[in-house]
Amino acid sequence: MKINFSEMYVDDGIKKAVLKILDSGRYIKGHELEIFEKEFADFCTSKFGVGVSSGTSAILLSLIAAGIKKGDEVIVPSHTFIASASPAKFLGCTPVYADIDPETYTMDVDHLKKLITSKTKAIIPVHLYGHPVDMKPLLEIAEDKGLFVIEDACQAHAAEYRGKKTGSLGDVGCFSFFPSKNMTVAGDGGMITTNNDELADKLSMLRDHGRKDKYIHEILGLNFRLSEIPAAVGREQLKHLPGWTDKRRKAAAKYNELLEGIVETPKEAKWAKHVYHLYVIQTDDRDGLSNHLNQQGISTGVHYPVPVHRQPCMDAGKLKLPVTDACVDRILSLPMHPQLKDEEIEYVAEKIKEWKK
Ligand SMILES: Cc1ncc(COP(=O)(O)O)c(C=O)c1O
Repeated sequence: MKINFSEMYVDDGIKKAVLKILDSGRYIKGHELEIFEKEFADFCTSKFGVGVSSGTSAILLSLIAAGIKKGDEVIVPSHTFIASASPAKFLGCTPVYADIDPETYTMDVDHLKKLITSKTKAIIPVHLYGHPVDMKPLLEIAEDKGLFVIEDACQAHAAEYRGKKTGSLGDVGCFSFFPSKNMTVAGDGGMITTNNDELADKLSMLRDHGRKDKYIHEILGLNFRLSEIPAAVGREQLKHLPGWTDKRRKAAAKYNELLEGIVETPKEAKWAKHVYHLYVIQTDDRDGLSNHLNQQGISTGVHYPVPVHRQPCMDAGKLKLPVTDACVDRILSLPMHPQLKDEEIEYVAEKIKEWKK
C-alpha cells in the first residue's frame, strides 16, 4: 500500500471555475476575489476578508497595519512554522518566544504573561495543527496591556474556540491556502479576516501599492494581491470545507481509537474544535518509527524538527523552552487528509504496532 501524507482535491467544479477565469481575460482585481473575500469572511463570522498572496504576507501586512515597527517586541510561540515569527523579525522587531502547553502544542498563556515588557506591542497565537489556542485568557491579557492580537490560523480553517471560529477572535486572523492546507487555492494564497473597518481598508491598500484610486498611492504598499484564478479555486474549495473538516475529525477519531496506549495521541481540549490539519503523535525513537513507516509506503512528516528559536536566521541565542525543546525530537505527523480511507488508517496503525513490538 502507498499512503500519501496529504492530498489536494480537484474536481470538475474547480476545473470549470479556472477555465471561466481564463476565458474571461480578467486575471486580477476582479469579482472572484471580491466574492471569495466575502464568502470566506462570512464563513469565519468576520466582517471583512482581505485576500493576499500567502499566509506569510497575511502576517507581515497585519503587523504593518497595526503599526508594529523596528524595536517593538512581538510574542510568538517557537513551536510553529517559521513564518509565524519571521515577518516580525523581517520588520526589525524582536520576536519573543513563548513555550507551549504540552497537551495542545499551542502557546502557554501563563508563560506569555511573564514575557510582556514595556516594548511588547503584539501577540501572535498560532492555532497549530488545527487546535485553537486558549484565547480567553490571552485576549484578557491583550486587552489589559493594549496589545494587538494576530491569530495565525494558517493551519486552522474552520477550527473553533468555545464555539467561535478561529480567525474571528483576535484583531486579525491570518490564513494560508498553501496546497497542503485544509483548503487551498491550488498554489500560494492567503486571507486576513477582521471586524475592524479601518484595518480592512488599510490592509487592502497595503497589498495593492497603497492605493484605492488607480493613480494615487496614499500609503506605502507593495504587491501582495491574490489573483482571480486562485480566488475562484478558493471559492470552490470553501464549499467543501465543512465536509472535509468532518472527515478529518473522523479520521483522527479512528487513529485515536487504534493507537491509544501504543503512542501518545493528540488531545482536544474541552473548549476546542480541532480540525486536524496535522495528526501528530509522540513516541521514543521517532526517526526509527518514521523510517519504518516510510519503508512500508507510508509518508510521514515532522512539524517541526527545529523550533524557530533555534533557526540560524532568527539569532535567538541559547534560549531554553523546556516543553518545546522536549517535544521536537518525539513528534511525528501521520498521513491526514479528507480522502484517507479507514483501511489506510488501519494499515498505518498496524505498522506502528508492528514496529512497537
Ligand atoms: C502556522 C503557519 N504560519 C504561517 C504559514 C505561512 O503560510 P504560507 O506558506 O501561505 O506563506 C504557514 C504555512 O505554511 C503555517 O503553517
